[in-house]
Amino acid sequence: MAILIGDTAPDFTLESTEGNIHFHDYIDGSWAVLFSHPKNFTPVCTTELGYTAKLKPEFEKRGVKVLGLSVDKLEDHGGWARDIEETQGSALNFPLLADSEGKVARLYDMIHPNADNTLTVRSVFVIGPDKKVKLKIEYPASTGRNFDEVLRVIDSLQLTAKHQVATPVNWQSGEDVIIVPAVSNEQAKTKYPEGWKELKPYLRIVPQPQD
Ligand code: BEZ
Repeated sequence: MAILIGDTAPDFTLESTEGNIHFHDYIDGSWAVLFSHPKNFTPVCTTELGYTAKLKPEFEKRGVKVLGLSVDKLEDHGGWARDIEETQGSALNFPLLADSEGKVARLYDMIHPNADNTLTVRSVFVIGPDKKVKLKIEYPASTGRNFDEVLRVIDSLQLTAKHQVATPVNWQSGEDVIIVPAVSNEQAKTKYPEGWKELKPYLRIVPQPQD
C-alpha cells in the first residue's frame, strides 16, 4: 500500500556508508529527509548528491538528518563518492543506504515498474520528529530535483508545526504567512495581539513569526 502524507514512515534496518541504519532510531526526534536516486555512477545523480552534501549546514540548521538511498552495493558507493567529490567539489557527508536488494525501495514505493523495473525514481520523503511523513515528491530519472525547494518546504513545515501558520503560493522564508483556518479569531488575538490583515474571513495574513 502506498505511503501517504500523515502515515508513520515504515521502519527498516539497512547497511549504509556510515554503518547499519535502524531508521526510527536514526530519526531519534529529529526531522529527516529520505531520498532515493536511480543509480550510482550516473550523471544527474552525481550532481544531486554533490549539491545535497553542500547543503548539509542548511539541513543541520533546521535539525534535519539526511539519508540517501540507491539500489547499489555498499562496495560501489566508495568509488562513486570519490567521483562526487572530484566533480562537484563536495564530499558525501551523509549516509548513503546500500539497498541492492531493493528492500527499502519497495517498502517506500520508490520503484515504479512502468518507468523502470529495477531502478528507483527520484523520491523524497520528509519525515517529522513524530516519524510521520510530512511530504513526498517523485521525479523521473531524467530530471534532477531542486533541493533548495526541499529546504523551502521544510521551513514551511516547521513553521506550521511550531506556529500553526500555513504558507502561500511561492512563499519564501521571511515573507508573510497565513493563519490556519483551525485557529479561531479569538485564539488569533492572543497569538497576534498586533492583529492581522484580513482579506477574507478565511484569508488572514500575518508577518512570519520569528523563533
Ligand atoms: C542520471 O542520474 O543521470 C540518470 C540515472 C538513471 C537514468 C537516467 C539518468
